[in-house]
Amino acid sequence: MAKILINSSGPLSGSVFISGAKNAVLPLMAATLLTSEECIIDDVPSLADVTVMRKMLENFGSVITDDGKGRLSIRAREITTIEGSKDLVREMRASTVVMGPLLARCGEVIMPLPGGCAIGKRPIDLHLKGFKALGADVDLDMENEIVHIKAGPEGLIGDVIYLDFPSVGATENILMAATLAKGTTIIENAAKEPEIIDLANQLNKMGAKIKGAGTDTIRITGVARLTGSIHTVIPDRIETGTFMLAAAITRGRIVIKNAIPGHVRPIVAKLKECGVTVETTEYGILVDATDRVLTSTNIKTLPYPGFPTDIQSPFMAFLTTVEGPSVVRETVFENRFMHVNELNRMGADISIENREARVPGGKHLKGAKVRATDLRAGAAMVLAGLVASGTTEVSEIYHIERGYENFVQKFKGLGADLMRVEED
Ligand code: UD1
Repeated sequence: MAKILINSSGPLSGSVFISGAKNAVLPLMAATLLTSEECIIDDVPSLADVTVMRKMLENFGSVITDDGKGRLSIRAREITTIEGSKDLVREMRASTVVMGPLLARCGEVIMPLPGGCAIGKRPIDLHLKGFKALGADVDLDMENEIVHIKAGPEGLIGDVIYLDFPSVGATENILMAATLAKGTTIIENAAKEPEIIDLANQLNKMGAKIKGAGTDTIRITGVARLTGSIHTVIPDRIETGTFMLAAAITRGRIVIKNAIPGHVRPIVAKLKECGVTVETTEYGILVDATDRVLTSTNIKTLPYPGFPTDIQSPFMAFLTTVEGPSVVRETVFENRFMHVNELNRMGADISIENREARVPGGKHLKGAKVRATDLRAGAAMVLAGLVASGTTEVSEIYHIERGYENFVQKFKGLGADLMRVEED
């Protein structure tokens, strides 16, 4: 198992190039199961989660080639099994996003249940509610932790589906299933994340008829078949936010290239409230925190376009260093404060009450041995390590490598003093 060692680094400076979005590429890859033709995806980041999705698709019969420069060519000429691999679903919850495409293409799918993870129970009830509304029969075998979903004799039939919560994964799964359903499907209270728009754009290139992606009502008119496509993944807004916070926490100055400013508005707004300068220039997003006295702010995570839950932990690491107390409220996941213990080991002194974390601020963090408790929490610990005195050792970094491309190299390019080492 590898770990990252970080030394106190001073203000980071320079520019960083943002990779294709992890949360966009996974459903884009799953969508290729909807057609027997070749689909090409560009700007695919090199990530552990992408490798898991590749294995998942290959398990269903897809043939995948990789040009080594971020272009994947995926072709599922024939689906060779309708049963998902338990090991792969365990490794990555997001692999459940293959359910919708397989159900649409084959009329049937058997998937192991993903179970809980560090940040909460994370059920898939809304995904299943959507499939049922499209006329599928859903057989949940809790004993064997497996779900068997089967379309009715006429195939999937469009309907109106109201999501009790705008779940990203459920919206993606239902959207993909509905592309080949008969008639019109309307998803109400749909997720509005940029990754949903990216998926709808690729599906429309494949011949789907989707309107309203990016709003809370998506209308899908089913078509008989889909074709191949060429699509480029959008830049990763969570990686963008992470590097914005790297500038802020180190009181540095970073230009973030290949980022979409409109995707990170809540992060920009909150950084500005704290006194950080954020400007969109012709070169990218400039984040400047040099020689500033920064002050506190409150954060409440929400579905897009609200403040992203995936940036909650990196932002909290930053808030430990500003003047005055902040309150961070997590409303999307039930248990996403695992990093608080780790930050406290570095002297952050944060307390939790229900879904609120109280961050006193004004701390000079001290290097410690800490864990990456999940993907984004791992990034938060590295950010904290950049400003802590002495050396910080972050273990369990496989979480970080699931979702950040060239993480250590990108930080080194900005002047950070860190290295990846294999643990004994
Ligand atoms: C996606 C992102 C993840 C991000 C999250 C919220 C991917 C691969 N992952 O995860 O990085 O943190 O959106 O922005 O895109 N829920 C239910 N029932 C369901 C589905 C979800 O109750 O059937 C609940 C979850 O437990 C959670 C909340 O809804 O509390 C949000 O989950 P959801 O939007 O589905 O997130 P994911 O798609 O899993």
